[in-house]
Amino acid sequence: MVNILLIALFFLVFDLFFLLFLLWQSLRPVLAGGAFYASTREEAVKKMVALAQIKPGEKAVDLGSGDGRLVIALARAGAQASGYEIDPLLVWLSRRKIRQAGLEKQAFIYRQSFWNEDLSGFNVVTVYGISYMMKRLERKLKEELKTGARVVSNYFTFPDWAESKKEGRLHLYQK
Ligand SMILES: C[S@@+](CC[C@H](N)C(=O)[O-])C[C@H]1O[C@@H](n2cnc3c(N)ncnc32)[C@H](O)[C@@H]1O
Repeated sequence: MVNILLIALFFLVFDLFFLLFLLWQSLRPVLAGGAFYASTREEAVKKMVALAQIKPGEKAVDLGSGDGRLVIALARAGAQASGYEIDPLLVWLSRRKIRQAGLEKQAFIYRQSFWNEDLSGFNVVTVYGISYMMKRLERKLKEELKTGARVVSNYFTFPDWAESKKEGRLHLYQK
């Protein structure tokens, strides 16, 4: 009887921790002022990189880099590519994918919020965000990016920045 109670207690505690983990996973992006995890489809990744028109040696960044697919694609296109990501599991996964692709010298993932970073050194920014962050992000990018920088946004648009090109659900902005 005591054994059964102990086993039941173990599963109860395990479930509780699991639920707390799920709750934290869903709250974290909101608390960080960013989007929930959802990945850009591979065809869209290719189109985003093509829209960015990367020149060799340019610096590119994916804001909220998820599993690293855009960072890897940007690096393959010739950029020094960075990604900011707050979810440690996704950071681990994307770094692993970068190693497997042999891109350790061109692609870097930082476990940090992009809101705390100065983005002025980047020529290209990609983002798959969410509506509630776009106004704040527009302000940050307009303040920090240099003339000539390009921003490619998957799906979401900036409220006051006129896009220079639209391809389906992808939007290109130029500073
Ligand atoms: C919609 S997903 C996009 C993933 C990837 N860029 C792609 O297109 O496949 C948004 C990502 O941003 C991350 N994120 C949310 N807020 C963030 C913040 N303040 N700083 C860094 N990453 C953030 C989330 O954890 C999530 O992985």
